[in-house]
Amino acid sequence: MSKLAVIAGDGIGPEVVAEALKVLDAVESRFRSRVEIERLPYGAEHYLATGVTLPPAEMQRLGRDFDSIFVGALGDPRVPGNEHARDILLGMRFQLDLYVNERPARLFDERLTPLKGKRVEDLDLMIFRENTEGLYVSIGGIFKQGTPDEIAIAEELNTRRGVERIIRHAFEWARANGRTRVTMADKANAIAAHSLWRRVFEEVGGEYPDIRRDTRYIDAMAMDLVRTPESFQVIVTGNLFGDILSDLASILVGGLGLAPSANRHPGRVAMFEPVHGSAPPMAGKDVANPMAAILTLGMMLETVGSADAARAVDRAVRDAIAAGITTSDILGGKHGTRAVGDWIAERVRSV
Ligand code: IPM
Ligand code: MN
Repeated sequence: MSKLAVIAGDGIGPEVVAEALKVLDAVESRFRSRVEIERLPYGAEHYLATGVTLPPAEMQRLGRDFDSIFVGALGDPRVPGNEHARDILLGMRFQLDLYVNERPARLFDERLTPLKGKRVEDLDLMIFRENTEGLYVSIGGIFKQGTPDEIAIAEELNTRRGVERIIRHAFEWARANGRTRVTMADKANAIAAHSLWRRVFEEVGGEYPDIRRDTRYIDAMAMDLVRTPESFQVIVTGNLFGDILSDLASILVGGLGLAPSANRHPGRVAMFEPVHGSAPPMAGKDVANPMAAILTLGMMLETVGSADAARAVDRAVRDAIAAGITTSDILGGKHGTRAVGDWIAERVRSV
C-alpha cells in the first residue's frame, strides 16, 4: 500500500486538498486501490504557534517513510517574510534532492486559451524545471542593508551533474512518452556560465538520436511560447526560468487554477503540489478552483502505479470543464470549490 503524507498548508490549501482527497476516496472505491494517508500540521498556523517550520526529524521521515507528499499551498500574510514556506517547500525540494520539477501545460478545452485560433492539439507541453540549483540556492547575502551603499548578491549555481541529470530526465521522459522534440532554454548570450547548459544539452541529446533538440534564449522562448506554442513539446530549463515559464505556460491553458506539478527524484519520495499559491484573499470562501489540486492528485496516482485511476481523474476534470462545472476563474463558472470537487468525485466513481 502506498503511503502519502499530506500538508494542507495555508490559505486555500486546505480547501483544495479536501477536494483532491474527496476524489482520492472515489478512486479508491472505483479502483479498489488503497493509499494510507498521514496528515501533517505544518504551515503558517503551526509556525506561529510553535516557532517551528518543519522539524529536521520530520524531513528525514518524509524522505524515508513515504512514497508521496501532497502539499496544498504555503504562504500567509501573518508571516510576511514567508520563511515557513521557504523552509517547508524549498526545504523539501532541496533536502530531499527532488531535482525534477515537472509542470505539464495541456489545453483541455479550446475556450480556455487566451491565444487566438489555437486548438487543443496546439498546446501540450511538458516543462522540466531544474529544482535544486540555480538562483534558488541562497548563496550570497545582503551587506549594509538599508544604507545607500547596500549590496545584495545572489549567486547562480550550475553544476555539471545537476544540469546533466535534469536534461537527461527530459530526454528520457520524451522517449518514454512518444515525444519527438526537446527544447532547452537558457541565457547563454549574456551569461557565460550558461554555456554549460548548451554543452551538456548537446552531449546528452546526442545519445537520443530519435529526438530532435533545439535551444532558445529565455527571452525568445517566452515570446515563441505565446506566438507558436505548437512548436514545443518538452522544455527543459533552469530553476528561475522554469518558475517563470511555467506560470506563462499555465495561463496559455486556462491559468493557475488548472496547473499541477510534481517534484521528483526517480526512486525516491515524490512531492506533489498545485502550482498556485495560497491566495489568502480567496481562503474560506468556497471560490478556489480545486482542479489544479485534483490534477496534481492524478500525477501522484500515475506515479504510484495507478495509471487507470490517473486517466479517470484527468477525464473527469476534462468532463467537468466541458459541462461547465467550474469555479469563476474559468469560463465564467458559477460553482463553488466543493461543488466542483463533488461533481468530479462522482464522475470518477460512476463513469
Ligand atoms: C513555485 C513557487 C515557488 C517557487 C515560491 C513559492 C518559492 O512560485 O512553486 O513556482 O518560486 O518555486
Ligand atoms: Mn512559481
